[in-house]
Amino acid sequence: MRQRIDVGGSHGYPLFLGVPIEELGGYLEERYGARGHYLIITNTLVADLYADKLMNGLKQFRTELIAVPDSEEEKSLNRISKLTEQALRCRADRDTMVLALGGGVIGDLAGFFASIFMRGIRYIHIPTTLLAQIDSSIGGKVAVNHPSGKNLLGSFYPPQAVWTDFSTLDTLPWKEIQNGLAETIKHALVSDPNLFDFIESHTEEIKCADFKVMKELAMRSLAVKVKIVSEDEKEKGQRILLNLGHSFGHALETDEAYKGVTHGQGVSIGLAAASSLAHARGLMTDSQLDRIINLLTKLDLPTSIESRDPEILLNHMSADKKNKAGNKILVLPVGIGKSSVATDCEDEEIVKAWKKVIK
Ligand SMILES: NC(=O)c1ccc[n+]([C@@H]2O[C@H](COP(=O)([O-])OP(=O)(O)OC[C@H]3O[C@@H](n4cnc5c(N)ncnc54)[C@H](O)[C@@H]3O)[C@@H](O)[C@H]2O)c1
Repeated sequence: MRQRIDVGGSHGYPLFLGVPIEELGGYLEERYGARGHYLIITNTLVADLYADKLMNGLKQFRTELIAVPDSEEEKSLNRISKLTEQALRCRADRDTMVLALGGGVIGDLAGFFASIFMRGIRYIHIPTTLLAQIDSSIGGKVAVNHPSGKNLLGSFYPPQAVWTDFSTLDTLPWKEIQNGLAETIKHALVSDPNLFDFIESHTEEIKCADFKVMKELAMRSLAVKVKIVSEDEKEKGQRILLNLGHSFGHALETDEAYKGVTHGQGVSIGLAAASSLAHARGLMTDSQLDRIINLLTKLDLPTSIESRDPEILLNHMSADKKNKAGNKILVLPVGIGKSSVATDCEDEEIVKAWKKVIK
């Protein structure tokens, strides 16, 4: 079933959910007219899978496709510069619209490109990974990486629309589904106890990528993000709750220079560590902590990591963008389905939480 949900805020936009990729052209014609120049930005892997479907629906328009290599490293200023040259060769102008076809990397890269090309052109994201469908395509953040830090150069630049075809999940490998699942469990812990129950009672279907269950999971999960970002567009308030598990997770990713632990694995171990800290503070019961660890484990997500120095990990957390005036700002779960911001966590407590997840 198709649905439309509007993301609120000063620059609201619609999410079209459960819509076939090949039908985007019809929507564009109806919404923006029969003429137009569309620049599809995708990567080589996604182009092989879905570019024909998209282009078949765009035959009435002048359309060009740029496929970049499939890598997080493409989220760079160097690639932005190359995209600029390619776009100019395609005679792109201020009326050109970018169609970002792919996961979070393409959404961030193409969205950031759209935000600065000729001082900003319009773009639509067609997210093809679970993570992009439930998380990165919602909230208007676009960015590229810099040698000094991930997502260091970016802006808030909402798309015209998000066009989500859940059937693209059929080709997504399990390890990529897991990246999205870690964020889905995070959404459940942040504010939706019923979503947590749903995931708990459908782990087998999720592991078989049962379409109906995956779609429901994605719809419920993205609703959490839509609600939070609609109320806090620029991350001035409760949007920080979406950082649950990420301060710990980023520290692990940094420790491995983004080469070892995947983002989903980092978030999963981060959720386990944050839950442990919350448990030690009396914010959750033994059985709630067990439920969280069991659910992550059932979905083959890690909840611990081999020998690491907790002091070094603590040190990585000092560089977290969310910290304020030298204080570590941590999001902690409160039971299941509620979360809170802690500004008073002592280093000792954090080290203890790390020790709980280091084997
Ligand atoms: N802007 C935001 O708010 C936000 C939020 C979270 C994450 N992010 C960013 O998102 C990125 C991670 O996104 P991601 O997890 O989607 O990674 P990704 O875009 O690299 O996609 C993961 C892999 O799946 C492949 N793929 C994509 N769709 C496919 C499909 N349907 N079938 C088969 N393979 C497919 C990709 O080619 C890639 O190899 C990071 O750069 C992260 O910083 C941004």
